This record gives sequence, structure tokens and C-alpha cells, in this order.
Amino acid sequence: MDRDNLKAALVDRQVRYFESIDSTNSEALRWLTEVPSLTHGSLVVADEQTQGRGRLARPWQTPPGSAIAMSLILRSNVLPQHLVMAASVAVADVIQSYVAQPVDLKWPNDVLIAGKKICGILAEAVWESDAIKALILGIGINLTVDFSATDLAEHAASVADFDLTQTIDRKAIIVDIVGRLDYWLNEETLYHPGLLYITWKNRLVTIGQWVVMQVADVEIEGQAIDVDSQGALLIENVTGEIKRFLAGDVSLKKR
Ligand code: BTN
Repeated sequence: MDRDNLKAALVDRQVRYFESIDSTNSEALRWLTEVPSLTHGSLVVADEQTQGRGRLARPWQTPPGSAIAMSLILRSNVLPQHLVMAASVAVADVIQSYVAQPVDLKWPNDVLIAGKKICGILAEAVWESDAIKALILGIGINLTVDFSATDLAEHAASVADFDLTQTIDRKAIIVDIVGRLDYWLNEETLYHPGLLYITWKNRLVTIGQWVVMQVADVEIEGQAIDVDSQGALLIENVTGEIKRFLAGDVSLKKR
């Protein structure tokens, strides 16, 4: 990806681009420490991450030339659960314009094609005393990463593994995602997240599935019956009891 082209396409915001970095989320945090007044929408992009981080402290791979690793610094009152809704919807909308297969969402914020994860989202809050100073929204998209000989092959894939409807253009994807996020993170969404919630829910494939929810060391099995507007997943267990989860790790129950 060409650094100057990317910066030229995003003239209205501050952009830091790296050929290689530990993690764009870590760099965003360092940037905020260096420049506490850093403006809303500042963006870190890297071609390669050497210590990319996923949810639940899992590693996230970003080999050079084959993926998108980006982190946006946001100064917004948006609730973290609405932020990840907005991010997953934004990524799904943009990636859908590149592939023939449907782009789905898995609760809470994975983007899938044909059941395989092509994108992960990691939102981190930066606190100052008891207030959130900024939110760091990290987005990782596998474009041409080859998972075939790895243990991730069963669950992970790249956009290029599917039927492409146009040539993959990393810069255009980044610019379009930033644009879609601007659209979703407007004042209207802040106070009336209904449209975002419905759009997110419509792409979620988790509803109706039999799942195992893992929260810390506890596992709960049941059928995912719905999501509410706060982003929580409702699971009904075999005795008919309904439990609500705002966070957790969900996997398909083997039946
Ligand atoms: C997940 O576990 O699904 C979330 C993965 C998030 C990965 C992205 S890549 C850009 C940003 N920098 C990181 O270190 N992580 C996020």
C-alpha cells in the first residue's frame, strides 16, 4: 500500500502509516499518550503487525502485504457496544461489495463469509480517572492471508478465498470503512441506535443457532434466541431459562 496515496485519500484526518509495527492498537495508545489532544478520527494503519492483539488476549496475525490492520482513535460518547456494532456493520457493507457470497456477522463482532472469520474487531477504552478519554477501534481484515496449512484453517479465511466481484484494493477498503463509520457514528446513532441495531441484527447468523457461551471459566449451552438493542445475546437453555450476555465467547454447539 502506498503511504502517500492513503494519506491523500484521507486528507481530513491525521494518519500514521507503518510498514511494520507491533500492533496498531498499541501505536494508537502511544500516539494518544504523546499527543493527549489528538483529534477524533485519527488513524493508524500498518502493512504488517508483529504482535497484533485479538479479543481475550489472543494473538492476531497480520503478515505483510496480505491484510488490513487499522486502528481509529475516537472521541465519542458512543457506547462501546454500539461502536462495535457500527464497526462490524461498516466492514460487512464494504466487504460485501467485493464478494458474491453473503457477508455475515457472528455475535458479538466477528465478520464471516461462509462460516469463516475474515475480520476481527478489538475496541479498547482509554480511561482518565473515571471517564473514557478515547476509544481505540482496531480492525483486522484478512485479504489474501493463506491459512490452509495452519490450525486456523477450520475457522479463518481471507476475502480472496471467495468469489471476488472486483479487484481487492486495500486503500479503497480502508477509506470506505472510515466513511461508513463516520456515517454510523453520527449524532442520530448516538441517541437513537435503532437503525444500526436492526442493520446489525439482520446480518447476524448467531440467532437461532445452538451455541456454547464461554464467560471466564463457565460454559453455558443453549439456543441463541435474540439480541437486544444494547448488543446483548439472549440464550435459552434446555430448561427454558433465558440468560442475557453482554460479553463472552460464543461457539457453535457440536450436536
Ligand atoms: C478478534 O479477536 O477478533 C479481534 C482482532 C482485532 C485485530 C485488529 S488488527 C488491527 C488492530 N491492532 C491489533 O493489535 N488488533 C486489532
